[in-house]
Amino acid sequence: MKLNQSQIQQALICGKAIVFDEIDSTNEYLLTHHQELENGTVCLAEKQTAGRGRRGRTWYSPKSENLYFSILWHYSAEDAANLPSLSLVVSLIIAESLQAQNVADIQIKWPNDIYYQGKKMGGILLESKASRNGLDLVIGIGLNLGMTKVDESVVTQAWADLSQYHFDRNQLACQLAFKLQKNLKIYPLVGFSHYAERWQAFDIFRHKAVKLVTESNEIHGISLGINEQGELLLQQGETVQSFGIGEMSLRAD
Ligand code: ATP
Ligand code: BTN
Repeated sequence: MKLNQSQIQQALICGKAIVFDEIDSTNEYLLTHHQELENGTVCLAEKQTAGRGRRGRTWYSPKSENLYFSILWHYSAEDAANLPSLSLVVSLIIAESLQAQNVADIQIKWPNDIYYQGKKMGGILLESKASRNGLDLVIGIGLNLGMTKVDESVVTQAWADLSQYHFDRNQLACQLAFKLQKNLKIYPLVGFSHYAERWQAFDIFRHKAVKLVTESNEIHGISLGINEQGELLLQQGETVQSFGIGEMSLRAD
């Protein structure tokens, strides 16, 4: 079933729904046009020719039954301080929405990768542009709802899709858009602590041996989950250190 712009429009609290057959990147579209678009605008595409992941990686985005979805949200300079942990909130909203549709085995790899049966099924990319009185945030979500094969030169790790569930993509897009808008709005008021416990329920590595890989080194420890700010807690012997979302990858050790 093709993406249906007017159906998605009806689910929105604010802003417009824009659907493309093909685009370079739905994130790029919102970032380029952020000044003229209404707050809350969502952009979806059937296919991305230059879908991107974190740290300049490519997000494989063929024409399939997948979801390539981005949303634009404005924050004042004051509210923009705690935005990195918002990506954990987005991962939680996705995980809870899928669980509510009876998808078992959904987990989150800190900070925000969505796993199904232990393999990467979705990812989130936060990007932003300065705006006159604050920041225009673009949140991009890629979910493999239905994709039978990948280009292995692009997808270099174990991956999964949800084709067995035969999702109605429009219905899921509507649900996500509505829940995201609701939560993006209240986030500056409630903060990350409002979501921390719920996020922990999906943590793929809690109490497991992990390594944090940065450009220059590897830090080994036991993951104790996250704190009230969404930072990763790593136990090394008697000490527990917290790590913010940055240029690092979390892996099983
Ligand atoms: P981390 O951010 O912790 O390093 P990661 O290894 O998953 O995690 P990301 O930058 O978050 O890295 O995601 C990009 C990676 O995801 C790519 O390097 C690729 O291997 C993989 N990937 C790309 N497209 C897809 C897709 N459609 N489904 C699953 N995985 C994908
Ligand atoms: C990751 O690296 O795990 C994040 C992947 C994010 C992919 C989505 S698909 C919709 C939006 N547009 C993009 O170019 N990237 C994000």
